[in-house]
Amino acid sequence: MPLTRKAYRAAILHSIADPAEVGIDASYEYFEDGLLVIDNGRISAVGHAGDLLPTLPADIDVTHYQDALITPGLIDTHIHLPQTGMVGAYGEQLLDWLNTYTFPCESQFADKAHADEVADIFIKELLRNGTTTALVFGSVHPQSVNSFFEAAEKLDLRMIAGKVMMDRNAPDYLTDTPQSGYEQSKALIERWHGKGRLHYAVTPRFAPTSTPEQLALAGQLLGEYPDLYMQTHISENKQEVEWVKALFPERNGYLDVYDHYKLLGERSVFAHGVHLCDEECARLAQTGSAVAFCPTSNFFLGSGLFNLPMAEKHKLHVGLGTDVGGGTSFSLLQTLNEAYKVMQLQGARLSPFKSLYLTTLGGARALRLEDKIGTLQPGTDADFLVLDYNATPLLSYRLKQANNIAETLFVLMTLGDDRTVLQTYAAGQLVHQR
Ligand code: GUN
Ligand code: ZN
Repeated sequence: MPLTRKAYRAAILHSIADPAEVGIDASYEYFEDGLLVIDNGRISAVGHAGDLLPTLPADIDVTHYQDALITPGLIDTHIHLPQTGMVGAYGEQLLDWLNTYTFPCESQFADKAHADEVADIFIKELLRNGTTTALVFGSVHPQSVNSFFEAAEKLDLRMIAGKVMMDRNAPDYLTDTPQSGYEQSKALIERWHGKGRLHYAVTPRFAPTSTPEQLALAGQLLGEYPDLYMQTHISENKQEVEWVKALFPERNGYLDVYDHYKLLGERSVFAHGVHLCDEECARLAQTGSAVAFCPTSNFFLGSGLFNLPMAEKHKLHVGLGTDVGGGTSFSLLQTLNEAYKVMQLQGARLSPFKSLYLTTLGGARALRLEDKIGTLQPGTDADFLVLDYNATPLLSYRLKQANNIAETLFVLMTLGDDRTVLQTYAAGQLVHQR
């Protein structure tokens, strides 16, 4: 195959370590006049344009951007495809919100044509917002995952998804059984896991909607295939936590339910974790599990404030999640804006470089994909964004007052949204142009 080589010249920024571990200054690389070189869908070089250009053939195809910043593609570690049509549903907290809005909305995915239509809208929305990898909940219907992976495969996206397993405490029209949930998941794994850049996640919705038999089969599936993901929810809402204690009185708390059924591990991502205790954070960290911090959802559903400093203390892997439709925006920039406020309300700070880390390298580490995505290191997939400093009149004016990349980055995360994303590239191909 002939080599397709392209280069992109602009300011370039990427995270290379967790600021909590190495300090802010050693956590990132910034090239004010940078060059990113792509060979056949992978990054082959990143650095100062003045250093790299002389090493490249004179006729190399270089796209030069003014007033723009190149970053890695953003990583959403928790989102629901079948809730695209119910973002911003009024008035309820988690358990009533599920019954009133979520379950009826998800029931529409019994229809494959509906699943196809929403998968298309959903993927366009991810890419418009600069999200190049997401860990995605489908509905209970296998076709929700088929529609999603079919659309993702066409664009060669790196995506992870799974069909919900749910066999109790939900309407009959939306439940599977331990056996059918197991078999349907297995068929999806056989069809999709490891195909191109796609990965499968075993997806028990949360402890209250699965019987012990179903949780045991979810754990069994994880043991049957290498490198499978597991995604679920945990300790999002106080009533939910009490309900789990009542449903599983034999277990020592919410996390222990998942632990007992062998659902913790290096590719397990638990959404929310707002009400986790110190011991639970320690156990999650010990097993290499990760938590998805979902600030817009936690505000919108009145769930509470995630304790990021406690997670850091335990060296727990944390990624950022939009949790659409409990979350109110597909934009991880807007999600960072809310994450900052979650920290402010707890008397803590969220530096813009920690924010960059959470949505890129931190998310990649939570998903054990840091050798493939989350940075602009040579050898990784060419999933990257071009952010436009002049996306709106206010952003343009405000950024002219910024004195350094830290201020620029913080303003991008405070004022930025889908309009800020000029272009999104996946595996070196342009997949969104504003
Ligand atoms: N817990 C169980 N299901 C859900 C869901 O769909 N959204 C959120 N935010 N929490 C959940
Ligand atoms: Zn969720």
